[in-house]
Amino acid sequence: MTLTDQEVHFFVNTLKNASNYDFSEYSEKSLKRRLQKILIDNSLDLVGVINKLKSDKVFLEKTVKDITVNTTELFRDPQIWQNLRYRILPKFANNKNINIWHAGCSTGQEVYSMMILLNEMGLLDKAKIFASDLNTDALDAAKKGIYKYRFNIGYLDNFDKVIKENPFNYEEYNEIPYTNYFKIDKITDTITMNEFLKKKPIFRQHDLVKGGNLYFAKFDLILCRNVIIYFKYSLQNKVFKLFHDHLYTNGYLVLGMHETMLGEIATKFEKRGQSYRRK
Ligand SMILES: C[S@@+](CC[C@H](N)C(=O)[O-])C[C@H]1O[C@@H](n2cnc3c(N)ncnc32)[C@H](O)[C@@H]1O
Repeated sequence: MTLTDQEVHFFVNTLKNASNYDFSEYSEKSLKRRLQKILIDNSLDLVGVINKLKSDKVFLEKTVKDITVNTTELFRDPQIWQNLRYRILPKFANNKNINIWHAGCSTGQEVYSMMILLNEMGLLDKAKIFASDLNTDALDAAKKGIYKYRFNIGYLDNFDKVIKENPFNYEEYNEIPYTNYFKIDKITDTITMNEFLKKKPIFRQHDLVKGGNLYFAKFDLILCRNVIIYFKYSLQNKVFKLFHDHLYTNGYLVLGMHETMLGEIATKFEKRGQSYRRK
């Protein structure tokens, strides 16, 4: 079943009128795919979904969660973490505090990766970790810090690349046990983050479309990876302005592997790879 742009707009407008959620500046391509899946999963046609959205708040909230794409990994794209380790985080080593915001943290793997890296660098105690997402189910999972083991076996390779290996010296290998940070239980098929990591971040629901700074803090580092890829250019720009306002001078914004900042706002940052230093 193929949906037209008009049908997608109709769906987005219905959501907007019935709730606080506004997906009108999300890219049509991704919305279309998600809406198609919502129709199939609920065995409804578009009219059926529209009617249900208007009358059933529980269905509406679930639909919003089904629109968001929550795919993530521990140490996703290891080269970004190596860049954080050797180039960006050392710049904050002498700070009294390091304020870090994960905007669009999904189920938390990015947040745990950051805390593990900071701990290896001796910086975890001075870090304040803030993490937000639109999807409250994802945030609940993030707080629990329990992930499927077999499904996520690649996490261990990523961990080794960032935490055990040195990309500048392949002869160096630090045998750091996983148990320092998480417990692997092959019987229950789970990876469970250790308690000292779980209790550290402040997780909050926050909608980047609405903007605003829910933490009332300025940040040294903002990670917003694989989130704006779903946004249209206009919303991407709005979000970049928000990050610019909430970064300290010389603070860094880190984007996902396939995301780029363009236009006027880009002149206010110095770009190197996926990281942007606020001038
Ligand atoms: C693909 S995940 C990225 C997770 C992680 N940053 C990473 O790179 O692995 C995208 C996340 O963005 C969140 N998201 C989408 N729209 C959002 C919005 N308007 N405000 C806040 N978070 C949003 C989704 O709920 C989802 O958890």
